[in-house]
Amino acid sequence: MKNIIANFFKKNYYLVILKKLLKRFEKNTSVEAKRWAVENKNQSIEDFFCSVDSKLYEQVKIEIKSIQEFAENKISKLNMSFGGGGNYILLYFLIRKFNLINIVETGVAAGWTSLAILKAIKKNGKGFLYSSDFPYFRLENPEKYIGYLAKNDNNENNWFLDIRGDDVALPEIVKRLDNNIDLFHYDSDKSYSGRVNALKILNSKINSNTIIIFDDIQNNLHFKDYVEKNKKKFRVFEFEGKFLGIVGLNENIT
Ligand SMILES: C[S@@+](CC[C@H](N)C(=O)[O-])C[C@H]1O[C@@H](n2cnc3c(N)ncnc32)[C@H](O)[C@@H]1O
Repeated sequence: MKNIIANFFKKNYYLVILKKLLKRFEKNTSVEAKRWAVENKNQSIEDFFCSVDSKLYEQVKIEIKSIQEFAENKISKLNMSFGGGGNYILLYFLIRKFNLINIVETGVAAGWTSLAILKAIKKNGKGFLYSSDFPYFRLENPEKYIGYLAKNDNNENNWFLDIRGDDVALPEIVKRLDNNIDLFHYDSDKSYSGRVNALKILNSKINSNTIIIFDDIQNNLHFKDYVEKNKKKFRVFEFEGKFLGIVGLNENIT
């Protein structure tokens, strides 16, 4: 509680924190959303990797193992517990397979996905990551832990991190992007309105080839509504009992 109060009065954090509290009153559609995700689930993610490129998947498994060892070793020095990462193997695989260059993610936390994305970019020899996050206000000095896993790893030339929250960080990222986004991964506040808002802000940099991944689509009906309204081809994968939705893949898979 002490940390929440201290962070509330910091910089402009109170605006984001108030908005987050208000979002708790959004209609709860998690039961319908989970049912829809289960009904629309595709093959397992491993089968997907094998069907796209089984040779690359064998290589990726080795590369991801070394990334995990690096991250676990680094995080063990912190003596704090953080939530696990998003499905970073999927992000890593897609970037390696399709040589994705302009990558935007929301939700960094300790930085599992940021680390995997930056490692994939490095392996490919090109690419840039734009990340948006907002400090976990339950921690003391939360800013210093954001992206911890990917910091001090010679990433400064390939990474822009803005921790003012999606409403402020995403417009800044749009300003900085010269070209369209190749891959967008949404893993921040997870509310229906947060997802709508992020897509709205990034809209001018998204085209039909942009691969868009939403984590935790079982939280609300946003992904279902989005693909139905826009007549998008999509895939749903189950990951550790949760579901993620992807659009933009079909055009990329030859
Ligand atoms: C699930 S974690 C992200 C995990 C990360 N992708 C990884 O793999 O390590 C969600 C993050 O989103 C941040 N967040 C929550 N609301 C946000 C907002 N409105 N704007 C930006 N980030 C937000 C949280 O503080 C947290 O750091």
